[in-house]
Amino acid sequence: FHLYLDSADMAELQACLPHPVVHGVTTNPTLLRRAGIGRAGVPGLLRRCIELGARQVQAQVYSQDADGMLEDARALLAHFAPGQLVVKIPATRQGFAAGARLIEQGVPVTWTAVYAPEQAHFAAQLGAAYAAPYLGRLEDSGADGLGLIAQMQALVAQRPASGTRLLVASIRSREAYLSLLRIGVGAITIPPRLFSELLDHPATLAAESGFLADARDLPA
Ligand code: E4P
Repeated sequence: FHLYLDSADMAELQACLPHPVVHGVTTNPTLLRRAGIGRAGVPGLLRRCIELGARQVQAQVYSQDADGMLEDARALLAHFAPGQLVVKIPATRQGFAAGARLIEQGVPVTWTAVYAPEQAHFAAQLGAAYAAPYLGRLEDSGADGLGLIAQMQALVAQRPASGTRLLVASIRSREAYLSLLRIGVGAITIPPRLFSELLDHPATLAAESGFLADARDLPA
């Protein structure tokens, strides 16, 4: 299982990394914009995440056409060792064309903004590393997000040789995270704020306080 942190904010990433349960960091242009990071700052941000223990990092292309996407990908890939950077590409007609070329060259690809099970199946058929559906946004649109993701998981599981994992994004609550674990998805990306919520259970912290107080009172 691969857990990613979904952020481009170095301060919040640094507050969580390194952590043994975190596989990597995902970003996209919206997160970059929110964090005030320009295109030129992306390799530095993600290289820093690797120094902080991320095993893989993901950056998205900026263009809409396949040639532009390939150019964006090559510029990003130049800053990383093979396999460190996963290239995120929207699951569009042009995006599938560009991503397939990258996979032929041995580059790991995430097809992102996946909204339908057949898109996840295309990704697995082409040997994607990941296919990324957006749970929260599916639910915002009135769709049965978990039901659709369960269908995607079943389709991806039909092609174990592809090694493709669902990387579910747009997770807004602990309950959503847990439901995805029950479905058995291979990867989830969550905001650092939610990661902290999962890590710091109030009852565990309260129990620890009690143990610490009793430990202090124990005779040597
Ligand atoms: C995915 O790449 C997005 O960063 C993110 O998961 C979207 O989350 P939101 O729909 O809650 O904004």
